Amino acid sequence: MSAAPALLDRDARVIAGNQKLRFFPASVVSGRGSEVIDDTGRRLLDLSAAWGANSVGHAHPRVIAAIGDAAATGAGASVLSATNPFAVELGELLLERTPGDGDRRVLLGHAGTDANNSALAAARAATGRPRIVAFRGGYHGGSGAAQAVSGVFVDGGVPADPASALLDYPVETGDPAADAAALAHVFAALDAELAGGDVAAIIVESHQSDGGLLVPPPGFLRGLAHRARAAGALLICDEVKVGLARTGRMHGFQHDGVVPDLVTFGKALGGGLPLSAVVGPAEVLDAAPASALLTTAGNAIAAASGRAVLETIAAEHLVEAAEERGIQLRTLIAELAERTPEIHEVRGRGLSLGIELRAEPGAQEREDADADFAKRVIYRMWQLGAICYLVRDNVVELTPPLTLTAEEALRAVDLLDAAIIDVRSGVVSDADIAPYRGW
Ligand SMILES: Cc1ncc(COP(=O)(O)O)c(C=O)c1O
Repeated sequence: MSAAPALLDRDARVIAGNQKLRFFPASVVSGRGSEVIDDTGRRLLDLSAAWGANSVGHAHPRVIAAIGDAAATGAGASVLSATNPFAVELGELLLERTPGDGDRRVLLGHAGTDANNSALAAARAATGRPRIVAFRGGYHGGSGAAQAVSGVFVDGGVPADPASALLDYPVETGDPAADAAALAHVFAALDAELAGGDVAAIIVESHQSDGGLLVPPPGFLRGLAHRARAAGALLICDEVKVGLARTGRMHGFQHDGVVPDLVTFGKALGGGLPLSAVVGPAEVLDAAPASALLTTAGNAIAAASGRAVLETIAAEHLVEAAEERGIQLRTLIAELAERTPEIHEVRGRGLSLGIELRAEPGAQEREDADADFAKRVIYRMWQLGAICYLVRDNVVELTPPLTLTAEEALRAVDLLDAAIIDVRSGVVSDADIAPYRGW
């Protein structure tokens, strides 16, 4: 492939490395639906949707119109010291679309990280308790308390929140006895944590995405909700990545039939703009006035975009679309796996899928052979015309726009097939992947 394009050279000189998670020399100068165009004019099938942020597809007409209208009104930058109609309308719609009882409020922000930081702080303030229970393999944010209770970061060396405990996240196996044992193990650990009476909240993903696309056994969230309530702690469901229709339900937690106390949203909510929200009881989110201040929270343009996203999900039946397209993709990948020994497993829900790759025995002698193989596969996919990224070293994550067509799903699996064949025959060199450290 050609030398790094000019935009990436300029990026290397100005954009901080601390905020980069790069797997290949990608750039995006425009996009529409499930396709983006890079600065060399190449069209790429976007199977990540910017880690789920562009869930309704790139440049959705409804989102563009809403953003334009809000910008033209000049309706202000925030809800901090003056309200605006766009923020209030988004809040009203979020309350309508999120299950929950009683008097509830919506706290607006910019990113999943600040939503989770605000939810954790609000839970601590409202309960007067210090401790948080979270899970190994969890991802709740890239800074602050949300990062310090994220298993993926704590395992990677980020200091854990001193008042937190990380428990094992149970994984569904399909074997009822094994699933029951996994649940019993985590619930015993949880009961021990809750016994002290000082746990403010349990924070959990309804299935782990960055943790490796791990789906818990049925009854996991219900067990958490039950135990949290009995112990006077709050259950926070982090729907930042898997929420808002992606799993074939409006909310991921609906797969286990629970209603959490607090729900956090981000990524998809903004339709590509920075927007996040916490939905929860008024007695929690009103309890510590002026304690979660962000000058531009409730920004009219981002809020209008959020409203357009929620309306698009309903108008285009994206819950059903995610389920249907997810089944198609899964079936195609399972068929491919039958003739592709490197595909160890495909898992996830709806359009939140993970393909665990393993290098063939003897194919490579390196210790990190599986991760190395997976890195080369996504690099080759990018060369062939698709964008997707890795989680948990060797799991290719697919979180495409929920508007992905059946034809695009076929193309995605053809590209995966071609990439694996090429990597097997050594097409991607050490030098190709050396500049990209990934996680
Ligand atoms: C489940 C989950 N929560 C929170 C976050 C943090 O969101 P953001 O990067 O928008 O701050 C992420 C990011 O990947 C996530 O996957």
